[in-house]
Amino acid sequence: MGTITVLNGPNLNLLGTREPGLYGTATLADVEELCHRTAAGLGHRVEFHQTNHEGVLVDQVQAARGSAGVVVNAAGLTHTSVALRDALATVPGPVVEVHLTNVHAREPFRHTSYVSGVADAVIAGCGPDGYAYAVRHVAALCSSLCSERQLHDLARA
Ligand code: DQA
Repeated sequence: MGTITVLNGPNLNLLGTREPGLYGTATLADVEELCHRTAAGLGHRVEFHQTNHEGVLVDQVQAARGSAGVVVNAAGLTHTSVALRDALATVPGPVVEVHLTNVHAREPFRHTSYVSGVADAVIAGCGPDGYAYAVRHVAALCSSLCSERQLHDLARA
């Protein structure tokens, strides 16, 4: 069916060795593999990206506007980036925000997300499994959107 774009922000390339007590030992390649496997089981495919640069992440969001939906872990940019939020607000399909850790149980500056207000759902604190849940949720929202559109088209026919 469609392509689900999974976007990752700064420092997530270091997963596996970055503060393993917090973020665990799975690498970003492991997370990517989980996303591909989950999407394939649902008849979707995944495009997976990581960048350390805010502008590049904004470009990747814009490029994902044609995809079935977006899963985004904006990492530190979650808590700072109006530009990223503005870009995500232009995505027509579902957007699911994901965090490996429970950001609400961490430092106060992590309790604010510029992304949540433009996301359909937020998943935090489930580790890498959160990405699989997010991919599943985007796929579920896509199929309900598709059937709503089909009903709408049938009603108009
Ligand atoms: C994170 C949480 C952010 O606060 C942090 O800056 C990250 C990772 C997470 O996945 O838990 O880089 O998004």
